Amino acid sequence: MFVLAATGSAVGLGNIWRFPYITAENGGGAFVLVYLVCILLIGVPILAAELSIGRRARRSPVNALRSLARSDSGGRYWWLFGYLGMGAGLLILSFLSVIAGSAMAYMVRTAGGVFEGVTARGAESIFIGLIGDPERLLAWHTLFMAMTTVIVARGVRLGLEWAAKYLVPVFFLLLLLLVLGGYLFHPEAFWQGVGLLFYPEFSALTANGILVAMGHAFFTLSLGMGVMIIYGSYLPAGTHIGKMSLAVAATDTLAALLAGLAVFPWVLGSGLEMGIGPGLVFQTLPVAFGQTPAGSWFGALFFLLLVIAALTSAISLFEPTVAWLVENKSMGRPRAAAWVGGGAWLAGILTVMSLGPWAFDFQFAGELRVKGMFDILDILTSVIMLPAGGLAVALFAGWVLYRSRTLEALGKDGVRFRLGYLVLRYVTPLSLAAIFVHTIGVI
Ligand code: PFF
Repeated sequence: MFVLAATGSAVGLGNIWRFPYITAENGGGAFVLVYLVCILLIGVPILAAELSIGRRARRSPVNALRSLARSDSGGRYWWLFGYLGMGAGLLILSFLSVIAGSAMAYMVRTAGGVFEGVTARGAESIFIGLIGDPERLLAWHTLFMAMTTVIVARGVRLGLEWAAKYLVPVFFLLLLLLVLGGYLFHPEAFWQGVGLLFYPEFSALTANGILVAMGHAFFTLSLGMGVMIIYGSYLPAGTHIGKMSLAVAATDTLAALLAGLAVFPWVLGSGLEMGIGPGLVFQTLPVAFGQTPAGSWFGALFFLLLVIAALTSAISLFEPTVAWLVENKSMGRPRAAAWVGGGAWLAGILTVMSLGPWAFDFQFAGELRVKGMFDILDILTSVIMLPAGGLAVALFAGWVLYRSRTLEALGKDGVRFRLGYLVLRYVTPLSLAAIFVHTIGVI
């Protein structure tokens, strides 16, 4: 069951909302290739490391790092990374909830036929109408956060497992329906979309694109913030962690590619431009849906898909901090969930305000352009905090934990284990370090 829960955490807004536009912006197939390499060399090893740390310690991330450092070869401050992860998780939760809330608003609007025949201008003004109205946005943000808090408060069995069991299959069903819709309504554009995803245009790939691919590999597999450590702590003893990590990464990648195939045909088939950043989902797609007879239905399904995807991810973002509150502050689970939900809700208000009344926009010395709080949080978490947390996990699992214990935790697996272990010890940290040096250069 926790394979499904981990998949639910991994597939989310990152796959449906972020992957298609960063792919279109960074050279299509070439970017996908770099992204796949990042998933294999950085993502999967860290995912396996997080899951096995969790399963060995059976505690929240902060306490897991503390107790395993003590029982293996030492180091005093590893637990600090547990807090870094909790912080990153809460920040991500805060803006994820605002986007998910907007998707809920759009689900209602699309179903009501608001976008039928709408022009690009019209869609833009509808979008600005939503984000420029903090009260409305706040209401949707509140509703989404409340739903998530209730599910988390119900506990691991009745909340997390329940959501994974029902929502993940529904997610894939909806995704397939949308791909099918794209194919039926825009057959030519469908193949253009396939080309965009799989034909590598290396000239469009920049150094910044590689950074984006790496950051996204972390984000999409929910790494670097202890989520997979806490999920690992719920895994039964017999689970083969290596296989499970590969399965989660493969399913997540499949979801991202399918999302590309669900989004590109509608956009390209309506003669619209692809590379326009985050506005893709809230501005371009509604125009595309509005041009097709059954578009309102598919549009509503698409936004429902976004909401479900966000929900199973948001639930997992609560978990490291909820588990920590339960262990360290002896709180009951519902109270812990309310604290986390309340805190992230408050932080989300910053995003709500910066999308409308407090909007700002500036450019760093290099190529980095920042638009409002949302961009700051996105860059801070996926380019800095998550890779830092991931680097710490790779070093911890590769160099601090005893090899024999990790081997035991992963299930003995001869050559494959040794290969994975070598990657975790050398390749993963070195590529992360190189990427960090580059990031500092860009900023
Ligand atoms: N992995 C999720 C996505 O791709 O949308 C987002 C996410 C969930 C990030 C949970 C981090 C996390 F801990």
